[in-house]
Amino acid sequence: MNPLRELKTDKALANCNGDANSEICFLSLSDNDSPSVRTLVVREISDSGVYVFLNKTSNKWKQIERNKLSEVLFWYPSLKTQYRVFGEIEELPRTSIKDHWNRRPLQSKYMDYAYEHFAEQSQEIPSEKALKDFVNELKHQTEPNKLVPPPSASGIRINAASVEKLLLDEHNVHSRKKFTKESESWRQIFLMP
Ligand SMILES: Cc1cc2nc3c(=O)[nH]c(=O)nc-3n(C[C@H](O)[C@H](O)[C@H](O)COP(=O)(O)O)c2cc1C
Repeated sequence: MNPLRELKTDKALANCNGDANSEICFLSLSDNDSPSVRTLVVREISDSGVYVFLNKTSNKWKQIERNKLSEVLFWYPSLKTQYRVFGEIEELPRTSIKDHWNRRPLQSKYMDYAYEHFAEQSQEIPSEKALKDFVNELKHQTEPNKLVPPPSASGIRINAASVEKLLLDEHNVHSRKKFTKESESWRQIFLMP
């Protein structure tokens, strides 16, 4: 079975359970001996990978340009289940970014404008008040239906090469499985938990 389908099913189950982590993942990157991790909203899980949105002015994008290998972590406390998806990052085509972007929360859309015209994401800003004033002015000047995705608004897919699933069992031994993609099929092995 494709482990990404298991992940997708567990994500939906976690959502039904009211799991605070059901909408998010943790993306780790590494370059020049400098590891980093951050929380991101999961936009989609397909049979081939995990989709997230980011802004290309950010530090994470600069890291991705240097090293496309990444691991995404999912932890669903309500299911006592952890997934680790390892693979290479691929930028999404402009057309699919536009569709997704239009469904983003309004505040996130204004922030994407601010990354273009106020300061790049992850960089030092003069003050929080200066940013708030800038966004308020933007809201005043630009109606929500006039907003279009700026060039730096982007999205990526982490193409899964391997997936590891750890299921904790308080009363018995834990279950730890590793799935590795081989051409179009998945090979499954058991790991010592
Ligand atoms: C619950 C939550 C959801 C988030 N979702 C996103 C997201 O979808 N995209 C994004 O770029 N940053 C998101 N962030 C912010 C990132 O964690 C991070 O602070 C930001 O992207 C800057 O990261 P960087 O400096 O590594 O580029 C989210 C943070 C939290 C706490």
